[in-house]
Amino acid sequence: MNLELRSLTSKDVDAFVLADAYAFGERHEDREKHEEWIHSDLDRAVAAFDGSELVGTGRNYSLDLTLPGGAIVPAAGVSWIATIPTHRRRGVLGAVMRYLLDDAAARDEPVAILTASEATTYERFGFGVATQVFGIRLLLAPIAFRDERPPGRLRFVEVDESSKIAPELFDRVRRARVGVVSRPKVWWVGEWAPPEPGNRFDVVYEVDGRVDGYVVYRTSGMWEEGFSRKRIEVRDLVAATPSAERALWQFLCEVDLVEEVRAVAVPIDSELAWQFTDSRQVRLSSLRDFLWLRPLDACRLLGARSYDAPGQLVLQVSDPMRPDGAASGRFLLEGGPDGASCERTDLPADLSLGVADLGSMALGTLAPQMLVRAGRVQEHVEGAAALAGRMFATDRAPTAFTWF
Ligand SMILES: CC(C)(COP(=O)(O)OP(=O)(O)OC[C@H]1O[C@@H](n2cnc3c(N)ncnc32)[C@H](O)[C@@H]1OP(=O)(O)O)[C@@H](O)C(=O)NCCC(=O)NCCS
Repeated sequence: MNLELRSLTSKDVDAFVLADAYAFGERHEDREKHEEWIHSDLDRAVAAFDGSELVGTGRNYSLDLTLPGGAIVPAAGVSWIATIPTHRRRGVLGAVMRYLLDDAAARDEPVAILTASEATTYERFGFGVATQVFGIRLLLAPIAFRDERPPGRLRFVEVDESSKIAPELFDRVRRARVGVVSRPKVWWVGEWAPPEPGNRFDVVYEVDGRVDGYVVYRTSGMWEEGFSRKRIEVRDLVAATPSAERALWQFLCEVDLVEEVRAVAVPIDSELAWQFTDSRQVRLSSLRDFLWLRPLDACRLLGARSYDAPGQLVLQVSDPMRPDGAASGRFLLEGGPDGASCERTDLPADLSLGVADLGSMALGTLAPQMLVRAGRVQEHVEGAAALAGRMFATDRAPTAFTWF
């Protein structure tokens, strides 16, 4: 194989989309609906060629990520990672990933982020699990909430209306919630608005005329011998207040002719179970990674967030893929609730860790003490992991609602 990487030009877009379809085994049958998203940030897309054949794809989208304390940092959203099956395991992804991380670093993005199809692929490139989600199933017979449904108004809307309402609400929510990734305008058009397979329904929750939440769900399942075996699958539920969240879940549990409500991406600190008279109504079907984070500039990342408890730590971070990069080396972090400072240092390290583990700690998702017990982080000074645990902890579990 004679591998060559080239930044994507518009004449190669069709081959780029086709390679992605070959790799995922999913053709883009409704491609015209995704056109704007496909063409967005095109100058950040890269194609791998074997001779004249386009065999691998990858791209960065320009996104934003909310950190603890409310700072928002630019993030390279790695996406469209694909190598066609005739060329797998010959280093195509490795070359594409080096290109994308260099692109992000050159643009001063302190982190790269992605949502992964498998959990085995990205640690080698320095990505760590930065948010997790529960998959849940609610069996609806019988089900009871402890309290009355909050008094706001629930209203069905069609997608042309919801796609005007939802982005504004989402933007309000994502700025206040750690781990949430921005959704560019073209994402709403290309990824959110197109009708999905199955029956899609959009419902908003309003209080005094102000939208405080929305849910997009689809129904699946059929009538069987005169009995309805329908199921609701929650696609996107975003709420600005706890009562909006409760109202939307309560609504979903009360839709007629439905046996079960399923959701695949519920925040791991969701209060849902504690609103039922029987908390076992919530069946957890999975716990999995959602957002992966790859530090590119340790000090910009660590210095931008705030810390739950005040403290000072020296972190020795190894980054074999980018040994001369800004995430590799020894860093002195001094942080507290009002902010932080971070600089390179020669002081002895309190903790040593790989860059992917720094990615897992950065938002507060994986506790440093747990990473020490797992043998992934080394503690050189007794109590350093516990201090890091108190510092990096967040009030709410980091969560990410955006797949990309
Ligand atoms: C995942 C995928 C892009 C890998 O591409 P590839 O060109 O075969 O990967 P490479 O040959 O560059 O592999 C680089 C390294 O990662 C490893 N690797 C790659 N994909 C892996 C996977 N899915 N699971 C475990 N290891 C993987 C390789 O073994 C190799 O390891 P090494 O450096 O120790 O030898 C490709 O298999 C694919 O397109 N899969 C289907 C689509 C998909 O899932 N894309 C990811 C979307 S998030």
